[in-house]
Amino acid sequence: MTRIETQVAIVGAGPAGLMLAHLLHRSGIHSVIVELRSREHCENRIRAGVLEQGTVDLLRHTGLAARLDREGMVHHGIRLAFDGRLFRIPLSSLAQGRAITVYGQHELVKDMIACRLAMAGDLCFECTGVMVRNLQSPHPSVHCDHQGKTLEIAADFIAGCDGFHGVCRPSIPAQAIRTFERSFPFAWLGVLAQAAPSSDELVYASHERGFALFSMRSPGITRLYLQCRSGEDLAEWSDDRIWSELLARFENADGWLPAEGSILQKNVAPMRSFVVEPMQFGRLFLAGDAAHIVPPTGAKGMNLAIADVAILAAGLDFFYRRNSSGLLEQYSSICLRRVWQAQRFSCWMTNLLHKPEQESPFEARRRLAELDYLTLSRAASTALAENYVGLPLEIPS
Ligand code: FAD
Ligand code: DHB
Repeated sequence: MTRIETQVAIVGAGPAGLMLAHLLHRSGIHSVIVELRSREHCENRIRAGVLEQGTVDLLRHTGLAARLDREGMVHHGIRLAFDGRLFRIPLSSLAQGRAITVYGQHELVKDMIACRLAMAGDLCFECTGVMVRNLQSPHPSVHCDHQGKTLEIAADFIAGCDGFHGVCRPSIPAQAIRTFERSFPFAWLGVLAQAAPSSDELVYASHERGFALFSMRSPGITRLYLQCRSGEDLAEWSDDRIWSELLARFENADGWLPAEGSILQKNVAPMRSFVVEPMQFGRLFLAGDAAHIVPPTGAKGMNLAIADVAILAAGLDFFYRRNSSGLLEQYSSICLRRVWQAQRFSCWMTNLLHKPEQESPFEARRRLAELDYLTLSRAASTALAENYVGLPLEIPS
């Protein structure tokens, strides 16, 4: 067995784990990351694409935005397609100049891994049998198998950044936490297409056949999503069927249509809301998807993961540099306030734009009126804009 000592053991090399390691490194705090999958897998997992203004500011401020600034696409508005109209929400003019940046999560993960390795930070891929122990003692530890060796990582703290299906949250005794959950009766079929984006802004479409979303990854790659049934079988979705369904759902967009191209990748993602309270047990702190899931419609998941670890890193900085555990004690409550705001907004956007399988004619008209209200009221569109670009992220210093 190989024993490694560190200050913070981080489980998971997604956006939360990698960003935490980076922030701790800047504070002179040592950490070790253990990750289940290979580097290649982490760098090619196509997921989120929208960064809030506060996320971009933090990445820039901490030296992680060189490629993001070159390749990220800054958007000052989004479009809503419904009832034959294509209505623009001018995000920046409604939200004090704040904008979103479209940049693939996997690109950010690549940048963070490269940065971690350039700083000679410990990052172990393909760790199996990961377990966390002694969570309530001042000496918790992470155990795993790595390259044929058994590792024991002795730490002061453990950060559970291992996503929704990780091992950290299930290691907490059930009576020590409370979970809040809601499932949605639909899912998203996501596709990556070799096609130049035919709109310079995202288009969220609400159609009687269901929701569709047009996004992008680069000047040559379009990202699209379709509302489908939960547990949908991808085998039933040929490329032709996907395109004809997408074109039907954007037919409502005042003559605008996405450009077609060959489909490079497709997947089905379930939609759920989930929150665990508190986000801490003893010396284990949960961050990102390990602690909460929001439905993707509001584009909040990755941003929440980054916001959590910004607070956690500040708390650990207070602990080591000022000998104060005050901020760590507030970690969960500070994060949960933002999490529930994101949950509220993401559920609202989801219900606004998706069509439930059994929607009554009354409900369909009510939903249309809610969309129409955004076009009638500056207050309503401002509420959407300020949530979409992200509520201010205040990091105690
Ligand atoms: P993850 O990215 O899940 O990372 C967890 C890491 O832990 C992974 O690398 C995993 O391999 C590793 N791991 C798991 N188990 C173990 C273990 N036992 N031991 C060690 N390591 C382990 N969010 C947005 O902000 N904007 C968007 O536009 C957006 N769109 C989305 C679209 C889709 C279709 C989906 C599915 C999600 C979207 N999200 C979006 C959500 C976003 O992708 C997640 O919220 C984000 O990945 C959370 O980051 P994380 O680091 O907490 O978790
Ligand atoms: C993307 C994902 C989202 O969940 C969203 O609301 C907007 C865009 C994307 O992957 O580009």
